[in-house]
Amino acid sequence: MPNHVHCQRRRAELLAAIDTPVLLMAGGWISRNYPANWSPFRADSTFLFFFAHPEPNAAALFDPKDKSVTLFLDERTATDALWHGTVPGFAEIRKLTGVTAVEKRADLAAIARKKLGKRAARTIAVPDPRATAEALAITGEHLDFYDTTKCGDPALIAAVARLRNHRSPEELAEMRLAVAVTREAHVGAMARTRPGVREQELVGVVEGAFARHGCVPAYNNILSVRGEVLHNHAHGNVLHDTDLVLLDAGAERPSGWCADVTRTWPASGVFGVEAREVYDIVLAAEKAAIDAVRPGVRYRDLHMLAARTLADGLVQMGLLRGKVDDLVEKGAHAVFYPHGTGHLLGIDVHDMEAFGDQVGYGPGRVRSQQFGLGYLRMDLDLEPGMCFTIEPGIYFVPAILRDAAFRKQWKGMVDFARAEMFLGMHGGRGFGGVRIEDDVLCTETGHEVLSASVPKERAAVEALVGSAAG
Ligand code: GLY
Ligand code: MN
Ligand code: MN
Repeated sequence: MPNHVHCQRRRAELLAAIDTPVLLMAGGWISRNYPANWSPFRADSTFLFFFAHPEPNAAALFDPKDKSVTLFLDERTATDALWHGTVPGFAEIRKLTGVTAVEKRADLAAIARKKLGKRAARTIAVPDPRATAEALAITGEHLDFYDTTKCGDPALIAAVARLRNHRSPEELAEMRLAVAVTREAHVGAMARTRPGVREQELVGVVEGAFARHGCVPAYNNILSVRGEVLHNHAHGNVLHDTDLVLLDAGAERPSGWCADVTRTWPASGVFGVEAREVYDIVLAAEKAAIDAVRPGVRYRDLHMLAARTLADGLVQMGLLRGKVDDLVEKGAHAVFYPHGTGHLLGIDVHDMEAFGDQVGYGPGRVRSQQFGLGYLRMDLDLEPGMCFTIEPGIYFVPAILRDAAFRKQWKGMVDFARAEMFLGMHGGRGFGGVRIEDDVLCTETGHEVLSASVPKERAAVEALVGSAAG
């Protein structure tokens, strides 16, 4: 687990990269109904990056002038100890973390004002609005967590992103642990799959695997036979033998580092004729994009490569008509593949998405307005140490395939009559969708698939489905 020594090194890197003081907030408890009933505490991701095991309400002032880091923590009280247990005192925390000083959180504004004098300080907006408001009262900035263009000073965001985007060995080790737990969840869900099982039972298998290892879902689990609903968080269906089960779930370690993996498998244990065709096309597109990962490659080119591979397969299946390059340039493939090929992955499942395209997109690059391409969350030139997902898919979405405007736009390029056959198959249950998603590290020489241990070859998946006794 990234420990205090590792985090101290990361803090020194930030101190070296800034020329004005920086105040970072962990955020506090968020109530889920009445004030004293809280959701599990999750520190802001940037704070987690710089501090191991941060406490709720922690704050930290980085001062490049004297290279100091002052950590602010809630005062230790007898009643807190009564309800929540004793925690180490300030002197011990200072020794453990290696920060310059530990001060009372209640004194944050006064101590910061004294230390800053006339100097300006900067902060980064965090999900806890009270913590953000407190920080803004000190720095005088006008930031808004919910506006990615106003989450923090661009130079500070860039400095933080440079660090967060390049994995240290300790951070990679954490991601590998998250992947191992994620593998157990996926394999367990495959093994317990059979017609008649409820989606919710499989969610229990997934979350049970996470919990057994002290992890939580890095995002709301997607486990559904309605895989064509891209972020489907409902689990109310009973599996039919013709259904495809799509599981998009990743474990998050207590350190925040996480995995994001998708697999799709047949409820019956055997892919049907059309499902096999679609699966093989998606797998081919995924492998083609992964194979192309190396330093210097533009992520958008991986997306286009995946799109061309999918489009080629869809032409073979008679669902698209025309030349592959022309179809992809015009965006016709997006009728079946409406999302981007992936995103940065780290302490956030969509890493640093709160910082918006100033981090996800390279300098001077702007998002396309085209349907499909507009959902590409990342367009960077790859560098060693970057982690991201590759996650193409093919979906039969009634809302898209039956939309009059789409039908008009793609007339002649999409065989909507043939697509309609997929929507109506299996007694009207429809085909659903297939997505295959892996977590990839860009290395000096190419890449490593961090999630390679999660089975995805068709035969391996078929062998696993239903293999659990009972
Ligand atoms: N789990 C959401 C995604 O794959 O982006
Ligand atoms: Mn993803
Ligand atoms: Mn995912």
